[in-house]
Amino acid sequence: MQGSANLNLMIKAARRAGKSLVKDFREVENLQVSTKGPGDFVTKADREAERLIKEELMGARPTYGWLGEETGGEDGADPTRRWIVDPLDGTTNFLHGMPHWAISIALEHKGQITSAVVYDPAKDEMFWAEKGAGAWLNDNRRLRVSGRRSMSEAVFATGVPFGAKKTLPAMLADLARLMPACAGVRRWGAASLDLAYVAAGRYDGYWERELQPWDIAAGLLLVKEAGGMVAPLREDDDILGKGAILCANDPLFEGFAKVIRNT
Ligand code: IPD
Ligand code: CA
Ligand code: CA
Repeated sequence: MQGSANLNLMIKAARRAGKSLVKDFREVENLQVSTKGPGDFVTKADREAERLIKEELMGARPTYGWLGEETGGEDGADPTRRWIVDPLDGTTNFLHGMPHWAISIALEHKGQITSAVVYDPAKDEMFWAEKGAGAWLNDNRRLRVSGRRSMSEAVFATGVPFGAKKTLPAMLADLARLMPACAGVRRWGAASLDLAYVAAGRYDGYWERELQPWDIAAGLLLVKEAGGMVAPLREDDDILGKGAILCANDPLFEGFAKVIRNT
């Protein structure tokens, strides 16, 4: 499947940052046993990855706007287009030497995500999607959400808030309602990959609160283009603005949403 010029540019940027992060990840694995730990090193790796992506994307499309986790937002001469980038999603996994992290790049046009890349360099899995052209894994695998229809067979992903986040009680209440009704809940620590895995039919659904636009912008297009349903956690909220998301395959969506929304 052939992508647009912008998509090819996003893939090139993701591969470039991926190479740099993989090199740093090997070093992080070695640093686990040191007493100082890899903290500062990871912060540098993260910033360097964003620098490489920005150089690639803004170098080729200097009029577009920018929103990156490390460098913040910038308006472009073209107010209709914006890159939304998380250079390293799953930082805690990366920091602990666990190979489950990704680079997330989305292109927004007139408020809608039109192209998306989520790249997992450790497994060399390039998930990508374009509005109206489907979701894909690497060069030629078309992605479809799972076909499971029964909640009791479904596996869901989520993120459990850490640190000072306010939504921990709500999350624990969600788990108490959902866990008896399904086959399992996973918390792997990289929101962009949680969404990519829903698109690939690995998870049957996903929900989380208190996310940032760069965590989910690319992943939500992957799920939509793989035929999944994506909605704000509370009906009528703006997903990217509020950062609370709920998604699943079509047959499971209603039942899953009922449990999570507690309606
Ligand atoms: C985090 C991951 C995690 C989610 C957190 C995010 P980061 O992003 O996506 O899965 O639960 O809310 O902040 O910090 O690793 O880029
Ligand atoms: Ca993130
Ligand atoms: Ca990040």
